[in-house]
Amino acid sequence: QSAQSAQSAQSAQSAQSAQSARPYDVVLFGATGFAGGLTADYLVEHLPSSGRMALAGRNRDKLEAVRDRLTGINPDVSEIGLLHADSTDPGSLAEVARSAKVVITTVGPYLEYGAGIVAACAAEGTDYVDLTGEPEFVDRMFVENDATARKTGARIVHACGFDSIPHDLGALYTARLLPGDVPIEMRGVVRTNATMSGGTLHSALNQFSRLRPLKEASSQRHEIETRPTDRRAKLKTERPRRDPVTENWLIPLPTIDGQIVKRSARTAPDIEDFGPEFTYSHNAGAKKFLTVPASIIGFPLLIAAVQIPPVRRAIAKRIAAGDGPSQERRDRTWFTVDFVATAADKTVHTRVSGGDPGYTETAKMLAESALCLAFDHNPELAGQLTTATAMGPNLIDRLTAAGLTFEVLS
Ligand SMILES: NC(=O)c1ccc[n+]([C@@H]2O[C@H](COP(=O)([O-])OP(=O)(O)OC[C@H]3O[C@@H](n4cnc5c(N)ncnc54)[C@H](OP(=O)(O)O)[C@@H]3O)[C@@H](O)[C@H]2O)c1
Repeated sequence: QSAQSAQSAQSAQSAQSAQSARPYDVVLFGATGFAGGLTADYLVEHLPSSGRMALAGRNRDKLEAVRDRLTGINPDVSEIGLLHADSTDPGSLAEVARSAKVVITTVGPYLEYGAGIVAACAAEGTDYVDLTGEPEFVDRMFVENDATARKTGARIVHACGFDSIPHDLGALYTARLLPGDVPIEMRGVVRTNATMSGGTLHSALNQFSRLRPLKEASSQRHEIETRPTDRRAKLKTERPRRDPVTENWLIPLPTIDGQIVKRSARTAPDIEDFGPEFTYSHNAGAKKFLTVPASIIGFPLLIAAVQIPPVRRAIAKRIAAGDGPSQERRDRTWFTVDFVATAADKTVHTRVSGGDPGYTETAKMLAESALCLAFDHNPELAGQLTTATAMGPNLIDRLTAAGLTFEVLS
């Protein structure tokens, strides 16, 4: 494992010097969609004045319309490039990857459209961020690209939106408040009043209808992934119960977030960040007891229903891709993720919170992740990484400056 780390560090150094000669700091693929459009708006306002950005997509007219809107938002931004890219055309994706220090993609569902641009970035030594919440996609991308990315120095960082930044960075922030040489037990408790956009609904339906490939991708990853010998990290499922610290009923949440937190604990550059033995449980929090049986019965029912193609199509039809919640709805939306963690005789309770998690905050998190990879001094790592391992405290600082809250409650 240490020989692998040394190779990654060396590749990361040479990738960063090769990247500095590229025409763009950041290229955004998917700016004509809902999440991509919000990410473009955020980027154009927060790119450093010397920063160079481009938009990539398959429809030139739509890209030009986005560029006109962006120039209206920030007339001082230096010229925004436009690049042709279609997820069905590998040559166009290689061209995009060769043009950028960092590629952001919001072209999803990632299982359907995402593999080509990850492969291109891994091959070209280009840093990469996305918004996937699809565990099968992340595992498949590990199997297909991790070794290549370690050689070229590319940092491939999935799940840079609400899936999974508040959970991943919140767990890191909390664990760092505790002693680093004893076991840590932590639970995360998520609450939000958000609704889903078309793109997210389609991605979720797609993933839930693929339980067998999901399992296969996970076992293929398991076969080739090196386990650390100096530490252990595991996931635990809470029994539904009332949490006396957060004053919520806990409902186990089997999303990608727990897996990402576990991976960060296993691969953090500093073992003291998560300690030698880390146990995490990921939960939704409900104020009312009645929500608990409804969720425990309703979620498996939804998963069973989407196995039947006509039912899946009927649910998908209710919301079109490209649609999302209105600005007014987003302004009324919020999230909190509480963490309760114990090590030896010390317990801490922390919270990460913000506004609309699905879109406003997701666009901010994705854009700040790309800016952090492009402009900050991060650990010299390469391969498939998490937000906590690739950027950790630098990204917490950026997101705090951008209005998200990381706080200690007790
Ligand atoms: N994890 C999170 O927290 C989170 C939050 C929000 C969104 N998401 C994910 O982000 C993704 C996008 O969501 P969205 O709501 O923005 O979706 P959307 O509005 O439907 O946008 C999809 C984008 O993909 C582009 N596209 C589709 N097929 C393409 C192809 N073959 N080649 C090139 N571009 C193609 C579209 O371009 P055209 O305009 O040319 O059609 C559009 O720009 C989804 O997978 C969603 O799950 C995740």
